[in-house]
Amino acid sequence: MTASKRKGILAAAFCLIATIVHLKVVSSQTTPGDVQVLQQVLKGLKNGGHLVDWTGNDPCGRKWSGILCQGNFVTGLLLAGFNLQGTVTTDLNKMSNLQILQLQDNGFTGSLPSISGLKFLTDAAFNGNNFDSIPNGFFSELPALKTIYLDGNSLNGTNGWYLPSEIRQATQLNTLSLSNTSLIGSIPEFLGNMPNLKTLNIAYNKLGGGIPQSFSSSNLIKFQANNQQGPVLSGPLDLVADMQSLELLWLQVNMFTGPIPPGLVNAISLADLRLNDNRLVGPIPPGFTNLPLSNFTVQNNQLVGPIPKFQDGVDFQYGGVSNKFCQATPGIPCAPNVTSLLTFLGGVNYPTQLSDWAGNDPCNEWSGVVCDDKTGSISAILLSSYQLNGTISPALGNLTSLAVLKLNGNHLTGTIPSELAKLPLLRILDLSNNNLFKPLPAFPPHVLLNVDGNPLINAPSTSASPLPNAPDGSSGSSPSGGNSTGVPKKLSSVLVGVIIGPIIAVIALISLVVGTFFFVYRKAPKYLKVPTPNTVVHPRDTGTDADAAKIVAQNNIGKTTGVMSGPSEVHMFETGGLIIPINALRKATNNFSEVSILGKGGFGVVYKGELDDCTLIAVKRMETAVASSKGLKEFQAEIDVLTKVRHKHLVALLGYCIECNEKLLVYEYMPQGTLSQHLFDYATNGKEPLSWKQRLSIALDVARGLEYLHGLAHQSFIHRDLKPSNILLTDDLRAKVSDFGLVKLAPDDKYSVETRLAGTFGYLAPEYAVTGRVTTKVDVYSFGVVLMELISGRRALDNTQPEESMQLVTWFKRISAKRETFRNAIDSCINVTEEALLSILVSAELAGHCTAREPHQRPDMSHVVSVLSPYVQQWKPAHLDTEESWGADLDLTLPQAIQRLQVLDTSSTSDLNDTQSSLPAQSSDFGESNVSSNARKLA
Ligand SMILES: *[C@@H]1O[C@H](CO)[C@@H](O)[C@H](O)[C@H]1NC(C)=O
Ligand SMILES: *[C@@H]1O[C@H](CO)[C@@H](O)[C@H](O)[C@H]1NC(C)=O
Ligand SMILES: *[C@@H]1O[C@H](CO)[C@@H](O)[C@H](O)[C@H]1NC(C)=O
Ligand SMILES: *[C@@H]1O[C@H](CO)[C@@H](O)[C@H](O)[C@H]1NC(C)=O
Ligand SMILES: *[C@@H]1O[C@H](CO)[C@@H](O)[C@H](O)[C@H]1NC(C)=O
Ligand SMILES: *[C@@H]1O[C@H](CO)[C@@H](O)[C@H](O)[C@H]1NC(C)=O
Repeated sequence: MTASKRKGILAAAFCLIATIVHLKVVSSQTTPGDVQVLQQVLKGLKNGGHLVDWTGNDPCGRKWSGILCQGNFVTGLLLAGFNLQGTVTTDLNKMSNLQILQLQDNGFTGSLPSISGLKFLTDAAFNGNNFDSIPNGFFSELPALKTIYLDGNSLNGTNGWYLPSEIRQATQLNTLSLSNTSLIGSIPEFLGNMPNLKTLNIAYNKLGGGIPQSFSSSNLIKFQANNQQGPVLSGPLDLVADMQSLELLWLQVNMFTGPIPPGLVNAISLADLRLNDNRLVGPIPPGFTNLPLSNFTVQNNQLVGPIPKFQDGVDFQYGGVSNKFCQATPGIPCAPNVTSLLTFLGGVNYPTQLSDWAGNDPCNEWSGVVCDDKTGSISAILLSSYQLNGTISPALGNLTSLAVLKLNGNHLTGTIPSELAKLPLLRILDLSNNNLFKPLPAFPPHVLLNVDGNPLINAPSTSASPLPNAPDGSSGSSPSGGNSTGVPKKLSSVLVGVIIGPIIAVIALISLVVGTFFFVYRKAPKYLKVPTPNTVVHPRDTGTDADAAKIVAQNNIGKTTGVMSGPSEVHMFETGGLIIPINALRKATNNFSEVSILGKGGFGVVYKGELDDCTLIAVKRMETAVASSKGLKEFQAEIDVLTKVRHKHLVALLGYCIECNEKLLVYEYMPQGTLSQHLFDYATNGKEPLSWKQRLSIALDVARGLEYLHGLAHQSFIHRDLKPSNILLTDDLRAKVSDFGLVKLAPDDKYSVETRLAGTFGYLAPEYAVTGRVTTKVDVYSFGVVLMELISGRRALDNTQPEESMQLVTWFKRISAKRETFRNAIDSCINVTEEALLSILVSAELAGHCTAREPHQRPDMSHVVSVLSPYVQQWKPAHLDTEESWGADLDLTLPQAIQRLQVLDTSSTSDLNDTQSSLPAQSSDFGESNVSSNARKLA
């Protein structure tokens, strides 16, 4: 090949290349439309300094900076961080082949350019500018869009903007980042339904409301909705538990409530979880330590329970002022009873009312939790009317020291956990006025259970009787059973309280004040059925008895000997006579001298006496006028009954005397007088106010006395006039009931009892005042009133009080129902220690039960005894720590006293052995079998 030929070839090749190059240049002339848009972009700029090479009209050909082309079309505008200022032409979407648009991190202002209809656009970034508005239809027709960032532009000024729904059509959208863009409204539901959306950032906006339900089925991997600034996000987090693809979840600085969903442990890739500064409650779910977390923040919530211990390297922030973890150090569990209480708290949805349940010591001012000072154990949970909803956790069954549980007046549903029935010390369980379901667990009889006002536990057999084993004649007669809803029932009881109550009061007052003092039902109307045939009722009105007109006692004998009397000894006395010659009594009372008078009552005068051996007695001498035939009948009956009812908490009849016109009853002398002298008039009587221990012990004594009266095997005695002036005290302030039920029904008129209205206003059970119908529950009511008096130091009826506080029962129930005012119900003389407070609470509750309007709702006295005795038990001095030893004192003294009386009248003993009582009474304290029926001799 020659050199020229080679030159020719080279020249030809060059020409060809030149031609090709020329052709190329000609064919890549940029589409004029795109050029025009870019020139408008340039025109909008205030400082185009970085874009000096945007000259000519061939951006693709001349490789303008920041421009991507394919063929003659501009496909990318990549101007991120060019420090550009000015506005962007709204016609940007005329560059119809645009695929990538990067305008972020400049100083653009004005409206966002329109991008709608850019069907190839996959990525758009406007973040980090100062765009101030977003045009209508901005997001429409963007079928290829995968990512879009608008963050950091305060769009549409102070009005903000709602996320337009047309964004739904961008079905390829993977990343939507709109943080700090003045977005308002709520999180749109449709976002949760966008099939390809993986990253959603709507942090630092003004969004309110909750996380939409649709999010539970979303496939989001990163979700940031933290730090809403205006309204904030709220509601529960339950459904994020279903977002199992999450790797990052930022919800901090909002007002989310409820617990951290334990189901979130299924989001097994979750690495960054920020929940701080919300209102989250409950514990940190235990499984979280298994998540691959690198960052986890929960500070400034209201979390409880233990702090989990994460592996080293996990950035775990849990501090802050408001969290209420039980321990300060991660990894240490809570005390077991704290765990139980927190489980209970979870059952009632961690209410804000109980937000002071913090730390590891429930005795440290947890609302509604009462602890025993001595043992530091939880003795009561008092959450009446706390607006609790949810269920009762079985975990309460682990609080074995619990004695009182009051959850009445809430919105609790579900069943009553059977675990509660196993709590060994539980005495009071008030679940009334909730929405609890059946079945009712079987509670032991010493538990005072109240489930009234739960429409779904409405079987009359359970709700009508607060006590599983209420005695016969008192259950099933309730008009309040059935399936009525709570509201009418409440209304009716309000009516009774507000309207009928005062009417009863007025009737009772009038009838007591005017003339005869009682209604007489000589021939009892048919509806006045006597509940148990052998019931004995007190016939007399003793309402006007002077407090002091009461009996005697004293047994200085027993104290000195301290020897237990055997049964045979007792028997000897029982079969022995009780007749005392008048002369012995004249001598003892200084011939019934004025100075020996202890007091006067409706029946006569009571004298103090002293026998030859210095034994003190009280002698009740019937007035001659009263000792008519009727009086005589009652006198006989009293003796008859009194010889059968003997109990250490009933004032004992030592003997009687009937000679000529004289009718005398001889009782043990009670040196400390009446309870009312100690309770109401202690100052004028020169006595110290009773301590709470003394009051409680008196209450229990009285309860035992009544329990005995009510519980005799063949007969039930009803006192009908229990009140502090009928409760007498020994020197060591042990109490005995006096003036107790006297008349036994004659066998042939069993069913036509005289049921006169007796008793004292203020202590009268409402049904008794209205109908004269008398059951043992009448005494229970009066006992409840006495208990209220013991707690409050106020009289049953206090005319010095304003009208609404005059009646103790109404006032006491109102004041003691609320925890805030409860202390006002307690006598200011009582030193209320925490320990005392529990038994005061129990007693107040009990008093409320005893004074229930419906007789069947009142407990019976054996329940009262079993509720009170544990609290007296705990205070008993060591040397008296069995019930038997309490009795020993009297077992000795009473027979001995009688023995001395017998010595005075040996003549009368012989003729007392013939008639035996047909009614052997059962008592653990005295062998009452074979009691002489002395009364017959008197006929
Ligand atoms: C933003 O404001 C502009 C004008 O003020 C209005 O036309 C536009 O509809 C608003 N955008 C949205 C998304 O509300
Ligand atoms: C955790 O968060 C902090 C503060 O936001 C951050 O500095 C750190 O890098 C994060 N750690 C990890 C492992 O992501
Ligand atoms: C239950 O109680 C909580 C806390 O008091 C309250 O936030 C919630 O709304 C209540 N729920 C219902 C269903 O009443
Ligand atoms: C917690 O329970 C334990 C064991 O039952 C008991 O000893 C402790 O006194 C209880 N503490 C409190 C504060 O109730
Ligand atoms: C009671 O405590 C035991 C032992 O701590 C625990 O295993 C049990 O789950 C608790 N019961 C309830 C109902 O929480
Ligand atoms: C209430 O009881 C009556 C009769 O026993 C019955 O017909 C009615 O369906 C009950 N209503 C409800 C709400 O249970």
